[in-house]
Amino acid sequence: MSQAAQQPVPEAATPGSVARPAGLFRALERGFARAQTGLSALAPDELNPLLHLGAAANTALMISAASGILLLFFYVPAVDQAYESVLGPLAGFLRTLHRYSSDACMLLVLLHLLKTFAAARFAGARWVAWFTGVGLLFTLWLDGWLGYWMLWDEGGAQTAMMSAAMVDALGLFSTPLSRGFAAHSLLNSLLFFVVFFCHIAIPLLLAAGIWLHLLRISKPRLLTNRSLTLVLVASLCAVSLLFPAPARGEADLARVTGEYVLDPWYQAPLVLYGRVGEGLLWLAFAAGALGLVAVPWLFSRRRRAPAKVDSSRCTGCEQCVKDCPFGANSMVAFEGRRVSRIDPGKCLGCGICIGSCSPAAIVLPELPLEVLRRRIDLWFSSPSSDQLAFVCRESAALAHHSVTSEGRHPELPGVRIIEVPCAGLVHPELVQRAQRRGAARVVVAACGADPHYRLGAHWMEERLKGKRDPGHKIHLPAPEKLCTLRLSAFGLLDLKRATAPTPAAIASPRKSRWVMGALLWLALISGCSLAGWVTVTPSSVPPSELVVTFLHSGEILPDSGQSAGNDVAPHMRGARTSMVERAPVEMRVFVDGVEVVNRAYFPSGLAGAGPSAALERIPVEAGQHEIRIEINDTGKPGQWRHHETRRLEFKARERHVARFDTGRGFSWE
Ligand code: HEM
Ligand code: SF4
Ligand code: SF4
Repeated sequence: MSQAAQQPVPEAATPGSVARPAGLFRALERGFARAQTGLSALAPDELNPLLHLGAAANTALMISAASGILLLFFYVPAVDQAYESVLGPLAGFLRTLHRYSSDACMLLVLLHLLKTFAAARFAGARWVAWFTGVGLLFTLWLDGWLGYWMLWDEGGAQTAMMSAAMVDALGLFSTPLSRGFAAHSLLNSLLFFVVFFCHIAIPLLLAAGIWLHLLRISKPRLLTNRSLTLVLVASLCAVSLLFPAPARGEADLARVTGEYVLDPWYQAPLVLYGRVGEGLLWLAFAAGALGLVAVPWLFSRRRRAPAKVDSSRCTGCEQCVKDCPFGANSMVAFEGRRVSRIDPGKCLGCGICIGSCSPAAIVLPELPLEVLRRRIDLWFSSPSSDQLAFVCRESAALAHHSVTSEGRHPELPGVRIIEVPCAGLVHPELVQRAQRRGAARVVVAACGADPHYRLGAHWMEERLKGKRDPGHKIHLPAPEKLCTLRLSAFGLLDLKRATAPTPAAIASPRKSRWVMGALLWLALISGCSLAGWVTVTPSSVPPSELVVTFLHSGEILPDSGQSAGNDVAPHMRGARTSMVERAPVEMRVFVDGVEVVNRAYFPSGLAGAGPSAALERIPVEAGQHEIRIEINDTGKPGQWRHHETRRLEFKARERHVARFDTGRGFSWE
């Protein structure tokens, strides 16, 4: 017996073994595989939602972009006209379609994320797709978030106010953005226009992001197949006509916010914000983003060793370059000819290129082709009643018992098994060899309808049908004794059926399954769209509210501007103005003679030379109240130079705003 034949086939690894903890990933992948198999029983693969998540997310994004472009013919990016401009029947339909397709996009992206996580498709060179995917998720969310701001209904105003408060918490601007939302007269049209501009510019970023996302994926399924595109467009249009998006009135800053409608797919942070505040929310954002970005490093256990090309054997046919699903092979010059070279940084060690290469110039350290050949020679040295099954190691089919070094599995008597990293590794020559040696039947089992190594299963099927090189050139002695199959979540059962003395016939898709598939999508889109209308009430709603705000500079402190004086060398003296320091501005507010605010507001800017800003929201009972505001900008105690008293009638939920501005004094709204 030759040495190679004695060499054991590497031990069967558990599925998803590139990720840890293996138990978690096994359970997750099994869950997804079962859902996928369950849906396959209802709908044909072309319409099975779990098989097209990335492409469907992209198609939903395209529908959203197209409806957004059409909406531009109606939308007016001005705070007083924005809401009204999209209320007409056609604009309303386009707004609804735009919203529901964005919701569907977010749902599909989240499912796509979960599925790629469950299938551990973040490991090895796939980290690039994962990393850029996280960027896409946040960019998509940001665009939707800004979109709701632009509508300027109550939810939009809440979105704007939360955004302003979050930015203010970072202390980036000398004038807090939140002040701009205290009263209608303070609304900043320029800011509104900037938001509008960002909302239509961000999709360009998304397009660039998607390009990066798919950079290391060859032949990506970027858009859905024709049937699914049709079903998606029809479902979204039907749901938009049946359930127009809610329009509950324009934002009114003169009223305290009570109940309002939000879309949790994009506005969920508003619910959290009401409970935890800016600091914790920033922390949650940062932790979420970091946690997601770190997934490939936190959960990857090991990397499959990359394949290598033996340049002396390579004939330069380029088939491996065409077949690698991850763009890891390229042609390079070598001793006056062109040969293939594998970039180890991009190679996932799937072995699909081994199935492409007739001169066996590619070596996968994990499973050398020579070992496979010798093993077949040994097992089928004389005519045998045994079958030979190549089984994808990423399927869960053989998870419960490991395959022995003799290729035996307790549940599959009469079958010799070779586990392969991907069914795409199975070169037609191996099947030919097994048949010539007398294997009763050869079964090649790939890991599912959406294989772990993407195109491997498809290439294997095409090669073995003689439709793709190197299958064109290889004649199988008994094509009827070959079975290729995609394993479902019940992979062992599939294998038992395929290797049974009379294998079960595979049912062809029925028309009713297409109808079921379309209905499935309609249900999914309806559920997702209707889940996007949630009525919320802020955690505390005051009966009515007094808002007091000012933007005002305290007096220049007497000693400021002097410190860089003559005791410092002339070249080290700063400009006099940069050393100016201002007094904090103090404010007291009394409601019916009771002091409710007494605070000092410190000057903005690093040098303390900018204006001070105040924004106080004071809950008051409905009814008449005497309001007195006192402001001291002198820096000296007790000098309340600016003051005003007003008697105001507060209706239920009414908001009054008292402003103080330098030069203009007090104004009341
Ligand atoms: C706008 C959002 C997104 C779109 C449009 C999108 C689209 C796609 C598409 C079309 C593919 C190729 C599928 C194929 O042909 O096999 C893909 C692959 C991938 N996506 Fe996304 N994706 C998005 C977001 C995400 C997110 C949020 C993640 C995870 C954080 C992610 C992780 C991945 C990974 C890891 C792959 C590679 C899968 C593989 O190598 O088999 N994607 N995506
Ligand atoms: S398939 Fe083989 S022979 Fe052809 S280019 Fe690739 S390594 Fe060379
Ligand atoms: S093993 Fe071959 S097909 Fe697979 S990623 Fe590496 S180069 Fe590409």
